[in-house]
Amino acid sequence: MPSVYFQTFGCQMNSADSDEIRALLAERGFLPCGSPAESDLIVVNTCSVREAAERRARSRIAEFASAKRARAGQRLWVVGCMAERLGDKLKEEIPGVDLVIGAKRMERIGEAIEAHFPKGIDVGADTGGVAKIGISRHLPPIFSKTAVTDFVPVMRGCDNYCAYCIVPYVRGNERSVPYESVESAVKEKVDAGIKEITFLGQNVNSYNYNGIDFPELLSKIAETSGLARIRFTTSHPKDCTERLIEVIASSGKFASHTHLPVQAGSDRILSLMNRKYTASRYRCLLDMIRTRLPRADITSDIMVGFPTESDAEFRETLELLRAARFTTAFMFAYSKRAGTAAASMEEGISQAEKMARLTELITLQTEITREIYEKAVGEELEVLVTERQQKRDLAWMGQDAGCKRVLISC
Ligand code: 5AD
Ligand code: SF4
Repeated sequence: MPSVYFQTFGCQMNSADSDEIRALLAERGFLPCGSPAESDLIVVNTCSVREAAERRARSRIAEFASAKRARAGQRLWVVGCMAERLGDKLKEEIPGVDLVIGAKRMERIGEAIEAHFPKGIDVGADTGGVAKIGISRHLPPIFSKTAVTDFVPVMRGCDNYCAYCIVPYVRGNERSVPYESVESAVKEKVDAGIKEITFLGQNVNSYNYNGIDFPELLSKIAETSGLARIRFTTSHPKDCTERLIEVIASSGKFASHTHLPVQAGSDRILSLMNRKYTASRYRCLLDMIRTRLPRADITSDIMVGFPTESDAEFRETLELLRAARFTTAFMFAYSKRAGTAAASMEEGISQAEKMARLTELITLQTEITREIYEKAVGEELEVLVTERQQKRDLAWMGQDAGCKRVLISC
């Protein structure tokens, strides 16, 4: 049977897209393969959000392309955000790339796969002609990382145009997945043994399908029997409403975790970023969440070195961090992305300064995270065990109802 190797960069949406491609290929008889050298097809799913992510993807693709010459018949596909941004230029840049499928085509990926590998493979006269040898979309657990958690994209694209961000350009405008499709995807997964679903979208709070908004979608899906826990990401603070928090607080089905990217603590920088909230409005939001969900983990994305950010403004970000007490945060140095509004702004900060700010930020957040985790010592947590850790003495791995990853050695 043919085999496929995946290399996925970037966010959870990319992981979900890779899973979908894997499932479509499985229906056509492709088995997952753990080694690029031995696979018939390599799929590289790319990210464009920062320059470093593109650099990593490019060098991996180039590696695969040059190794590919040694293996007759192997195909190399590049999909996702960088594929969207660069298109077929990638084929010229890296000879050996056979197919480029951009992120905007992801919800129609079935058509692209069908065009290359039509369902129903001719396995020869012995079987009496054409036989379908594809396996089910649902891979047996030995092939998938975890058999209990899965993603369901509910919306794609973004209309927010934050000044630094390439996403609206490579993923296109917001589109919500029809409610019926979300519901049937959840049911299908739960029937296949999935216990926890994470709804994905660049800005899930913008979900709206024929009048069904995100809080309504959540309360309807919470009724699904057999589904133990629901997560979602990412929420834009400007759209995170009291009604949404009420829905989460009113059912035991939701993870007590909110990922709420703040990006910066200075109002001038937030306004330049086009984030549409102030630091104090963000802090009110945190108060509202903590009043309704006192035990909730709140996590965030934070950026340093946005064009013209002064040292005093960076210190406002540190101050916000101290007040917010995020359980964890993803922290980045600003990376210029061609075509975005920020790309035409004078940066006025050296790379060394950006890195020094990032180090200071990470040091502070690491300390806060450590304090929060130390407080959990001695607590009893309900953990959904998700997978076997290969490295650390074969411990089991899982996640509590919030965002804490848990290792269970046994
Ligand atoms: N430079 C640095 N970080 C960025 N992000 C998005 N665009 C950029 C960029 N140009 C970060 C934001 C966002 C997260 C997914 O990536 O913090 O929330
Ligand atoms: Fe990018 Fe802003 Fe949209 Fe998030 S909300 S994907 S940061 S443009």
